[in-house]
Amino acid sequence: MTRETVGIAMNGVTGRMGYRQHLLRSILAIRDQGGLALPDGRTVWPEPILVGRNAEKIEALATRHGLDKWTTSLDEALADPSVTVYFDAQVTQARVPAITRAIEAGKHIYTEKPTAETLDDAISLARIADAAGIKHGVVQDKLFLPGLLKLKRLVDSSFFGRILSVRGEFGYWVFEGDWQPAQRPSWNYRAEDGGGIILDMFPHWRYVLDHIIAPVRSVYAEARTDIPTRWDEQGREYKATADDAAYALFELEGGIVASLNSSWTTRVNREELVEFQIDGTHGSAVAGLRNCKAQHRAATPKPVWNPDIPATEDFLAQWQEVPDNAVMDNGFKVQWEMFLAHLVADAPYSHDLWAGARGVQLAELGAQSWREGRKVAVPELDRTGK
Ligand SMILES: NC(=O)c1ccc[n+]([C@@H]2O[C@H](COP(=O)([O-])OP(=O)(O)OC[C@H]3O[C@@H](n4cnc5c(N)ncnc54)[C@H](O)[C@@H]3O)[C@@H](O)[C@H]2O)c1
Repeated sequence: MTRETVGIAMNGVTGRMGYRQHLLRSILAIRDQGGLALPDGRTVWPEPILVGRNAEKIEALATRHGLDKWTTSLDEALADPSVTVYFDAQVTQARVPAITRAIEAGKHIYTEKPTAETLDDAISLARIADAAGIKHGVVQDKLFLPGLLKLKRLVDSSFFGRILSVRGEFGYWVFEGDWQPAQRPSWNYRAEDGGGIILDMFPHWRYVLDHIIAPVRSVYAEARTDIPTRWDEQGREYKATADDAAYALFELEGGIVASLNSSWTTRVNREELVEFQIDGTHGSAVAGLRNCKAQHRAATPKPVWNPDIPATEDFLAQWQEVPDNAVMDNGFKVQWEMFLAHLVADAPYSHDLWAGARGVQLAELGAQSWREGRKVAVPELDRTGK
């Protein structure tokens, strides 16, 4: 059995995403299972090199997980010939310069979203990556969540008939940070530091809609900064300058309407932190992170509007759970495995920097729509970026 070792410089692993989802739940989990087995009999063995700004933190992290390679110098990591992939989970603003350096050093790229703050930057990253002939991938984790995999299965089986609409609710209350610590980093709430819910969430909505339902053709968005003052990780008061709630209407190919709310200023009255309902002529479904339930036209009850009497039907009990029918692994890990197979064995892989740029495009056009108070068309983005 041949073992292919892939050296990965992992930058931003002290962060929420970098540590839990990418290092712990993906790369270390792949090592714990003995590597990634390829169909041709080879095994891919990821060898992380932790990169971070704070030597103490990064060394402690390496020690805790029995890893012997770490550095505070990105240049040193990029000069290491055993490193073939550069992975970025830093704050969004640090991403473009770091990835550019990694491409110049001839490394393959795997990165968190959004790939950049502007469409121009996102396109130029994709262009220089293509010109350098390297392989590239962008995190599109929601596609690999059990709930959304089951939703995709329903779409692929033509369960819905003609899809009419999509309704999505994402969000929860993010504490202000004074009387209870905030559960998200403070930069998320400062526009000047790359924060904002449109830039954070619209890249997700782009690939979810494009891949599972139909390509996005236009956007109309309205956003707010509902909480103008927050307190940071050190307990210091700061001005929240970024949007923390966004309400959007997307038109998809075929005339489907998708209405998606994203908010860090709402309290959860749903089964999961994100839920999508699809209504079609032949059936409807509601999917969350893990679960998906469906109602076929033949099993659709006939509610009758009568405000004079209490509701007699248990509407939530009228849906049927869609079974897993498979072992569903962590979505981030599944995508890492797809990327590693693409890297080593040329397995097909479409979630690249161009797909990442389409996400940034939707965020940029969504923000433009909000500023101008009008619906904005979302043009095709081909590989030349025109
Ligand atoms: N795929 C997803 O579902 C998902 C979810 C949340 C965040 N993200 C993305 O992941 C990235 C990281 O988000 P996070 O929530 O883990 O953030 P975080 O603040 O928890 O972590 C940020 C990381 O970047 C490092 N960093 C580098 N330069 C920095 C600087 N100048 N200032 C502050 N930190 C700096 C930090 O040390 C830390 O390791 C963001 O681009 C975000 O959009 C993706």
